[in-house]
Amino acid sequence: VAPSYAVDVLTVRKRIRTAEGGRLDEVLRSAGIPLNLYCGGRGLCGKCVVEIVRGKVSPPGGPEAALLAGKGFSPRHRLACMLRVRGPLSVRIPRGSVPGKIRVLDAGFAEKFEPAPAVKKYVIAPEAPSLDAPLSLAESLEKKLGRRLALSPEAVGELPGALVRGGGKVTVTVLDGREILDVESGDETDGCFGVAVDIGTSTVVVELIDLNTGRTRGRTASINAQVRFGPDVVTRISHAYEKPEGLSELSAVIRSQIDEMIRELAGKAGVPTGQIYEIVTAGNTAMTHFLFGVPVNTLAVAPFHGVFAVSPEARAGSLGLNVHPRARVYAAPNVRGFVGGDIAAGLSAVGMSGRTGRVLFVDLGTNGEIVLKAGGATSTTSTAAGPAFEGLSISCGMPALPGAVAEARWSGGFKVRTVGNKDVRGICGTGLIDILAVALAKGLLSSSGRIRTETGDIPVAGEVVLTQADIRGLQLAVAAVKSGVRMMIEQSGLRISDLDEILVAGGFGASLNIRNAMAVGLLPGVPERKVVFVGNTSLAGARKLLLSFPARDAIETYAKKIRHVSLASGRDFQDHFVSALEFGPYSGDV
Ligand code: FES
Repeated sequence: VAPSYAVDVLTVRKRIRTAEGGRLDEVLRSAGIPLNLYCGGRGLCGKCVVEIVRGKVSPPGGPEAALLAGKGFSPRHRLACMLRVRGPLSVRIPRGSVPGKIRVLDAGFAEKFEPAPAVKKYVIAPEAPSLDAPLSLAESLEKKLGRRLALSPEAVGELPGALVRGGGKVTVTVLDGREILDVESGDETDGCFGVAVDIGTSTVVVELIDLNTGRTRGRTASINAQVRFGPDVVTRISHAYEKPEGLSELSAVIRSQIDEMIRELAGKAGVPTGQIYEIVTAGNTAMTHFLFGVPVNTLAVAPFHGVFAVSPEARAGSLGLNVHPRARVYAAPNVRGFVGGDIAAGLSAVGMSGRTGRVLFVDLGTNGEIVLKAGGATSTTSTAAGPAFEGLSISCGMPALPGAVAEARWSGGFKVRTVGNKDVRGICGTGLIDILAVALAKGLLSSSGRIRTETGDIPVAGEVVLTQADIRGLQLAVAAVKSGVRMMIEQSGLRISDLDEILVAGGFGASLNIRNAMAVGLLPGVPERKVVFVGNTSLAGARKLLLSFPARDAIETYAKKIRHVSLASGRDFQDHFVSALEFGPYSGDV
């Protein structure tokens, strides 16, 4: 039997017993203390630092020691993901190592639409059956509602009791105008809620919505808990099909995370979770497959197709989500390949199918997705931008939490503004773009991406610097999007100057400096009035699809018509990519 040891977590005064050899981050997580694992526990991000106060540990390997020293940590600090428990330990966890609440920067933009939710509540007093009018309870219900109903044995079984408790009055919750989801006693029409979820590869945002009024009752965001299996879609897909339990692990993690976030929101809003009747999610193809527990093997090999495009019919109870057990879980349809429901939801939100002119829609997330609508045809592609824009693969990067540099300019040195005006802790996406643009303009950085300072890094504020490796990561992310946009424009026979509108979506937040984004080459150079920042359209789209049942049909039909362009198979892509590695505005008018 392997010996077991005590791990004392001084920060929260908790003692955990664990078998010898356990990885410290996993030991902590099993005791309800999750750490930031932005790089998925691969020893690269340096976000899972713990301080060893007492106990013997093996010395850090070279890369770990260098990473920790580079970040100014003392030799007592270690990366939890690189440490095996070999004896009793006492540890302290720095604040920066535990996931914080992410400030939800924006709710996303959505065109105006007519609300028409799939779920509606009716209060009725069915006629008591009599000898003259021998209608059954269910028939009398149908008569009152004026429609045929699909009656489940559970719903019918709840009717008599609810009627008695409600003094002859019941509230029935009807889905799609025919299925009874719930029967409650008395008048409960006020309690009709739904949930919209944006399942991003890096961030999950959940919104609680009153289906009667369309109003948002609460919104919360956190880092996608699946990051511990890998920071990007590709590593998570490999985890799902290479490990026997991989898929069920990924499913369980995202389901329980969404469940917890819903519980938190409902608790704060004083909403009974049993009155949540529908959940609409928007996520990329892999995220949606994980949610429903559907194998992703086909996403791992060309032509990278998912098993389904249109959402399977699923109920909350079967997915372990603790809302009303018969609540429906609907996912925005996947478009093609990796272009998933998050983009479909985004296109629904901005009303892409109804927009006239030549419109470029760019979603700057972990996968940079590009959609081009011109001459009545729509095409799309996805680029592997990686999580750099979300600050996750950058040494001082962080999500838009308090203390993250969100804006930067130059005035004899970097002048920064942080989220919440707190002390600088790191840099989020908008800050990274500003810093790149300023560093290029001031000659701290060459357009080839070489840092030109004496120290070899770009000092931003205090300890916060951008290293040469960070710049390389950003260079790849910008180049992925830039070459993708150029290919799409070229293939459609257009020029940049032909574009009437560029819609920029993504979790960047409204403070993305468009001029700086153009200066580094992230966005094509067009007159600024043509660029519209639409924010988190994946969330806005999930909200719209929750509130408008007809919008689901519309986006499912539109998504089927979108042509998918595979960049990897394009002969010119490599050339475009290599030339896009040069920082700077788009050259020419291709
Ligand atoms: S270094 Fe440990 S999770 Fe990234």
